[in-house]
Amino acid sequence: MDNHKIDILLGLQWGDEGKGKVVDALTPNYDIVCRFQGGPNAGHTIEFEGKKFVLHNIPSGVLTPGCVNLIGNGVIIEPHILKGEIEGLREAGFDLRKTLMIANRAHLILPTHRAMDAANEKALGKMKVGTTLKGIGPTYTDKTARKGLRIGDIASADFREKYENLKRAHLQQIAGLGFEMQGFQLDGLDFAEYEKLWFEGIEYLKQYQFVDGEYFINDALDAGKKVLAEGAQGSMLDVDFGSYPFVTSSNVIAAGVCSGLGVAPSRIGKVYGIFKAYCTRVGTGPFPTELFDETGEMLRQNGHEFGATTGRPRRCGWLDLPALKYAVMLSGVTDLMMMKSDVMDDFATLKVATAYRYNGQETKQLPFAACTETMEPVYTKIPGWQQKIDGKIPQKLEDYITFIENYVGVPIKFVSYGPDRTQNIIR
Ligand code: GDP
Ligand code: IMO
Ligand code: MG
Repeated sequence: MDNHKIDILLGLQWGDEGKGKVVDALTPNYDIVCRFQGGPNAGHTIEFEGKKFVLHNIPSGVLTPGCVNLIGNGVIIEPHILKGEIEGLREAGFDLRKTLMIANRAHLILPTHRAMDAANEKALGKMKVGTTLKGIGPTYTDKTARKGLRIGDIASADFREKYENLKRAHLQQIAGLGFEMQGFQLDGLDFAEYEKLWFEGIEYLKQYQFVDGEYFINDALDAGKKVLAEGAQGSMLDVDFGSYPFVTSSNVIAAGVCSGLGVAPSRIGKVYGIFKAYCTRVGTGPFPTELFDETGEMLRQNGHEFGATTGRPRRCGWLDLPALKYAVMLSGVTDLMMMKSDVMDDFATLKVATAYRYNGQETKQLPFAACTETMEPVYTKIPGWQQKIDGKIPQKLEDYITFIENYVGVPIKFVSYGPDRTQNIIR
């Protein structure tokens, strides 16, 4: 942890690596935790003392007393969902009124953004992305098209008018896609009913602190505060470097921290990269090491691989080292963290992809075609440790770790062997 620098924690695969757990475990070392991109498509799980929390829009530092949490300008916010999340935490004994900050420049997800997400997906048919239907793509589209509404706009006298204008444009686009709004529901509610709750969410948020996040963070760093930026999604879902178009709509790599919070590249300190000891993916898109057999099913069952946001079964497969190395390169990862090793405790043999076969040749790089085509993986077999991990790393797991470190070239400093915030080994 460098003074006056911001540390980052990023998912290096297709999301759901365990970011919530690790951010929560690291938070005692930090004064401020910030989200810098994504929105309620994220589902970050934290478990301790037999309790389980799933956070969507709120940074995972909120469960540590005294930690300040910032929802940065690069994040997109759905006020009704955020209200529900804050209220859920309040009922569990966490009052966020003094500790949650929201950047004025963060964009708002409108109910019609969510409708448009559904309309886009329906129009794509078999080619659909398999989004979380939270309105992520349409909201970021409006942001770059310079049409979006921001948290800071809530205070303006003509907010309702701006809302209605944007809604009207959305409804035209939705009709253009042949999508029927009549009877369309959001989270089981009629659209009009949902829209009412959305406006209640807007009113509710006014009791929270809206800040100019870029000054807030830079001032905090100048004052020597320790700041951690929490990524959402994973590098292989990055809008530039993931398997486009089967990606999310933001930059989830380290570069996203600069634009998503307003900090300069020279202010970036440690970059923690987190990955599972195997791979998972939700939604459509290439996944070279995916398993369709009982081994894949074992990973899903042992690892409880069902989405924290949508409940969808996650696709499961072996660890993909070329993809991991690519993600490490894109973000300049300084420390690796390996999660969910315990899920493979019973496995006699593990496989890891060390290259792909493409166009009759072997490659360790992801070609452009990796966006849409599934590369054939070249595997190396590694003996399993076949014992429970409990506070100590078995020798064969140590060998697995060393193999990964040698391939990727970055040390694995943290090994997680269970969902609880205490089930970690520092190497
Ligand atoms: P995130 O989106 O990256 O925060 O990850 P999710 O919360 O969506 O999914 C990770 C899941 O794995 C959650 O249910 C965690 O409680 C759980 N988890 C995290 N670390 C471990 C681990 O080391 N072992 C096991 N068995 N589960 C873990
Ligand atoms: P966390 O932060 C896993 C996936 C969706 C879909 C694609 C685009 O919990 O790791 P979107 O709704 O963003 O337009 O969907 O991205 N996706 C995630 N997969 N974990 C996530 O977040 C995800 N957020 C989006 O399944 O394939
Ligand atoms: Mg998740």
